[in-house]
Amino acid sequence: PFPWYREMHEESPIRYDEDRECWDVFRYDDVHDVLHDPETFSSERPLTAQGEGETDGMALETMLNTDPPRHDELRKVVDDPFKPGAVKHLAPHIRDITNEYIDAVVDDGELDVVADLATPLPVTVIAELIGVPADDREQFKQWSDTIVEGPEAATVSAETVKEAQLQAQAEMATYFTELIERRREDPRDDLISDVIHAEVEGTTLSEGETLGFLALLLIAGNITTTNLITNAIRCFATLHDGIESVRDIASLELAVEEVLRYQSPIQAVSRVATTDTRLGEHSVEAGDRVVVWNGAANHDGDKFDDPGTFVPDRSPNQHLAFGSGVHFCLGAHLARLEARVALSTLFDRFETMQLAETELQPVESTFLYGVQRLPVQFST
Ligand code: HEM
Repeated sequence: PFPWYREMHEESPIRYDEDRECWDVFRYDDVHDVLHDPETFSSERPLTAQGEGETDGMALETMLNTDPPRHDELRKVVDDPFKPGAVKHLAPHIRDITNEYIDAVVDDGELDVVADLATPLPVTVIAELIGVPADDREQFKQWSDTIVEGPEAATVSAETVKEAQLQAQAEMATYFTELIERRREDPRDDLISDVIHAEVEGTTLSEGETLGFLALLLIAGNITTTNLITNAIRCFATLHDGIESVRDIASLELAVEEVLRYQSPIQAVSRVATTDTRLGEHSVEAGDRVVVWNGAANHDGDKFDDPGTFVPDRSPNQHLAFGSGVHFCLGAHLARLEARVALSTLFDRFETMQLAETELQPVESTFLYGVQRLPVQFST
């Protein structure tokens, strides 16, 4: 999308797209302004298994599609466990899990970063935080993928995709309902227990709200973190001095931020105008959908010097990969930690690494950025 972003920055930084029936916003300052004005640009829209805007299927009310003040109340319920100080303690555990995944492939001399490491890692970490038994996590990954992307075979009809999504959603709901029941009787130190016992505006959450909450926590961080880890390997391999060129942890920290800027796992988020308003020189009507291209903002030459160049030690680097404002990604610190630990563990275990394929298939999505497989050859 990057040449397209450059073109949009120059020719139509804010435009209405008749085909998709929405506004597109590409420049850093405009993206930032929209995200910081939730009163005018609301996140309240139906969020269902079928995607935004469609109203059939179970509509979930979560912090992601709620505006302040209710948003802030919902977010407060789980803010603490995601703060930097809290997630920091997970580092040794994340390293252990990563080592297990590496052990499983170490004799092969080759691994698929996506399937062998970057996919299972975030699911395992978040499932544990939520309080899902380890044995169920494969099943979880499948539900989560189906809900976000549809069933694996890309050739099936839209109808089949929809059916599979609804079914995955229903199965996950049933599973969580049972788990919630068990936790009510036997509370633990996990997110399920936090959510069950939370009081929001004086009352505990309804069954549907509790389910939506857990589903959001479970789904939001998976494919995104998968893509961050995978994109990092790609950036180091193709835009820098090789995969293992960023070995020490200090440079890795900055390099992960640059990956987030350069190949943002989420390229766009959307809002709905609550009132007639203006976007630059354009008149926007109440009810209009506004797509905010944070991925484009991260390539805006007015904000970043030489935005088309991958600069692993870029600093400052105020990218918008995790959004901005009240909905700033809850899992940002966790995602960063997972990426750093996963990458540094790979560097510790492998002497050399190189891409085993050059033709890479992008993930099938307009708003996600990543590849389906990333085979890497290594020596120990
Ligand atoms: C929100 C990106 C990982 C949970 C967001 C938003 C973005 C984002 C752009 C803002 C959405 C909006 O403004 O409408 C990412 C990326 C990730 C990542 C790029 C990985 C590299 C995670 C993880 C979790 C998570 C690991 C773990 C639970 C959430 C939640 C929200 C959110 C709950 C909604 C926050 C709110 O509405 O206040 N994320 N995310 N994300 N993210 Fe992430």
